[in-house]
Amino acid sequence: MQRTQIVDALAATAPQPVIRLCGWVRTRRDAKGFSFLEINDGSCLANIQAIVDEGIPAYANIGAVSTGAAVDITGELVESPGKGQKWEVRVQTLTLLGAADAETYPLQKKRHSDEFLRSIAHLRARTNKYGAAFRIRSEAAFAIHEFYRERGFFYVHTPILTGSDCEGAGEMFRVTTLPVEGSVTPASGNRYENDFFGKECNLTVSGQLEAETLALGLGKVYTFGPTFRAENSNTPRHAAEFWMIEPEVAFADLEEDMNLAEDMTRTVVRRILDRCAADLDLFNRFVDTTLVERLRQIADEPFARCSYTEAIELLLKSGKKFEYPVSFGLDLQTEHERYLAEEHFGKPVIVYNYPKEIKAFYMRLNDDGRTVAAMDVLVPRIGELIGGSQREERLDVLEARINEMGQNLEDYWWYLDLRRFGSVPHAGFGMGFERLLMLLTGITNIRDVIPFPRTPGNLEF
Ligand code: 4AD
Ligand code: MG
Repeated sequence: MQRTQIVDALAATAPQPVIRLCGWVRTRRDAKGFSFLEINDGSCLANIQAIVDEGIPAYANIGAVSTGAAVDITGELVESPGKGQKWEVRVQTLTLLGAADAETYPLQKKRHSDEFLRSIAHLRARTNKYGAAFRIRSEAAFAIHEFYRERGFFYVHTPILTGSDCEGAGEMFRVTTLPVEGSVTPASGNRYENDFFGKECNLTVSGQLEAETLALGLGKVYTFGPTFRAENSNTPRHAAEFWMIEPEVAFADLEEDMNLAEDMTRTVVRRILDRCAADLDLFNRFVDTTLVERLRQIADEPFARCSYTEAIELLLKSGKKFEYPVSFGLDLQTEHERYLAEEHFGKPVIVYNYPKEIKAFYMRLNDDGRTVAAMDVLVPRIGELIGGSQREERLDVLEARINEMGQNLEDYWWYLDLRRFGSVPHAGFGMGFERLLMLLTGITNIRDVIPFPRTPGNLEF
């Protein structure tokens, strides 16, 4: 008999004489002559209640059907007389697929701390909170693909192994097949001569440069893939491995870029509100009671926008004491970003036209010669969600910027070719997928929105 998912069983419109369900026992309560099981199969937040009567053969072994055990049951789906559930199952057959020792199973029926659950990340998908988080993660990923597909973007794949440093920040993980010990520099002086690629190789920090080449052939593209940064910042917002969505649009300027970023964020929020109501309700009750209200506001109200110069003025006028003192040229820190989004505007804000000194080489130089056509989307509780820009399409200006940043023109020969042959204005941005999930769930630590977080000193699982 085919297995029915619990999400479908609970949505039934009529009783069923017999259905088959599989899942993990959340709790068992024994009464005289029968037991109640709460079963969850991960298909939704809700459990289904199953009633096992002492009259069925499996009842003899009901003691082994404890919290965490996996079961396969068949039974009649009937209207539940109990409160809070429409349907329950009167069990006809029960097979214990996998027992879970009651003494040693780590997920007993009580509230566990996030820290503890991180240490058992291989089991935490079986809790309400992480089940909900990972279902929302899946829905959000699909909502993003839908968003771009509906607008005529092509989904492209950019390499994970790369020879270039997109952000120029040198925060890369090196990839090598050279032996750990005893590597001697060959006579040629090229340390990587005997390495796999014959040159330095790293894990990508962004697919942008390659995405630009594809946008300048396909028009509108996006990447959505793993990204790696070896920044040694142990914050609740940084992971060494995270996922980034990077659209890149030919013939677009900064204004269109900001519009796209806002449209994408608000559309995904709206779809998660529509499609993940039960899971969001869990976060709204137990993690952040203002979550749904804030998400509705994001869905319904346009974002604020202000230039970097205005942002600095607002910070100076705020009367706040910041850890990092405010002046023009300051690279905004999370405390500043959060003040702007949370306190001053009370909603997401897009800050644009940053001083060129604090931004990457590829951003288009504005006519004032001091600022670049960059934009960051800052959101309450998190700070930076998105970073993007119009790209420098003028060969001479771009070369000068690469030189200014002390980087090697030869390393970027193919990127510069794009400016030599049919160069056009274009723009794009990167959204950190985990930051989006923090916004969507109210979860405050990035380690809790990715199944197996990678942070300094943590490489378990
Ligand atoms: O602002 P970033 O560094 O921009 C870029 O990488 C551009 N190349 C994107 C582009 O224009 N195509 O990173 C983009 C976003 C940030 O706004 C943040 O949300 C996320 O990526 N991010 C991180 N998320 C988690 N952990 C980290 N260590 C992150 N670093 C950046
Ligand atoms: Mg950034």
